[in-house]
Amino acid sequence: MRMDTSCNLKRRKVLKLKICNYIIILMAVPFVVEGLPNSLKSTSSLPPESCNGHDGYELSIFVKKPTHYICPVCDKVLRSPRQLQCGDRFCKNCVEKILQKSEEPVCPVVDCQETVDVNEIVPDHAVRKDILALDIYCEYRDNGCNKIIKLRDLSSHIQECGYAEIDCIHKQRGCHAKVERRHLADHLASDCLYSPVTCEYCNQSLSREDLEEHVRRCPQAPVSCPNGCGVKDIPRMKVTLVLLDQATGRRNLSDTFRPDPTSSSFKQPTGDMNVASGCPLFVSQSVLETPTYIKNDTLYIKVVVDTSDLYGP
Ligand SMILES: *[C@@H]1O[C@H](CO)[C@@H](O)[C@H](O)[C@H]1NC(C)=O
Ligand SMILES: *[C@@H]1O[C@H](CO)[C@@H](O)[C@H](O)[C@H]1NC(C)=O
Ligand SMILES: *[C@@H]1O[C@H](CO)[C@@H](O)[C@H](O)[C@H]1NC(C)=O
Repeated sequence: MRMDTSCNLKRRKVLKLKICNYIIILMAVPFVVEGLPNSLKSTSSLPPESCNGHDGYELSIFVKKPTHYICPVCDKVLRSPRQLQCGDRFCKNCVEKILQKSEEPVCPVVDCQETVDVNEIVPDHAVRKDILALDIYCEYRDNGCNKIIKLRDLSSHIQECGYAEIDCIHKQRGCHAKVERRHLADHLASDCLYSPVTCEYCNQSLSREDLEEHVRRCPQAPVSCPNGCGVKDIPRMKVTLVLLDQATGRRNLSDTFRPDPTSSSFKQPTGDMNVASGCPLFVSQSVLETPTYIKNDTLYIKVVVDTSDLYGP
């Protein structure tokens, strides 16, 4: 095959054209879902002790409202309480706000207004412990969680709460779904494009995203009669493409597939090329463009069509 060296695009097109003329199309895609990992971590949720940039806890999360532990700055329940010399308590974060406000900060409690001595600000561990021991509702109560837990156990509960919203475990592979933990298995079994499934014809494990494409080419997957006679489950003829290694003859690249002859891709092209499917990963452009496979502007593709499995003439 001769090709124009001046234009990469053209090369790719020529190659695709040749390969895709053989290709195949859609079938129903059967699969089974494989096992789930055991520990599924929640991604959100602030541990109760952390306070950086956060003011107090919302009063509404507490079963019995601790109205005597309200921070005068944020009006919420004290988080990491700090006590000033005057005795008044504030969230750690709220004390920082007081200090930033003025060169000579004073206690903002209306009846107090005492000057704040920065060296006299202390963590109030007793009050912190009291608050962490209070009963709260799970933050996923609106989703249906009826659990009542100690505030200090919130983050560990969230790690296992079935109603917590978590990222799909295949987020890194590209699934952006957020699901309640109790629905994750269903999501993986039916929706997630990235969960591993097994091709029912060859037992190869692959992601659901790739399954359809795989079944089109799976040598074990049967096809229907192209003449519409109704006969199904016909084994496929085998097409093998070999890109010849012109340097040493040792690194031929080959890919085998069994096209579906009823597919609209399996015919003489009527436009520039047929629907581009089939061997999309046959060879990468960067590998192709090495002297191994292209020499003097020429590459060779050997096409082997094996019809020995076919019924009839
Ligand atoms: C796939 O696995 C199933 C069950 O493990 C087995 O019965 C079947 O023969 C396997 N098929 C292939 C093509 O390996
Ligand atoms: C590569 O293909 C060529 C042409 O079919 C053949 O002569 C050569 O033996 C093949 N090399 C290998 C390693 O199969
Ligand atoms: C490369 O191609 C040119 C003309 O297309 C030809 O004259 C030359 O012999 C070829 N070289 C090799 C090494 O095949």
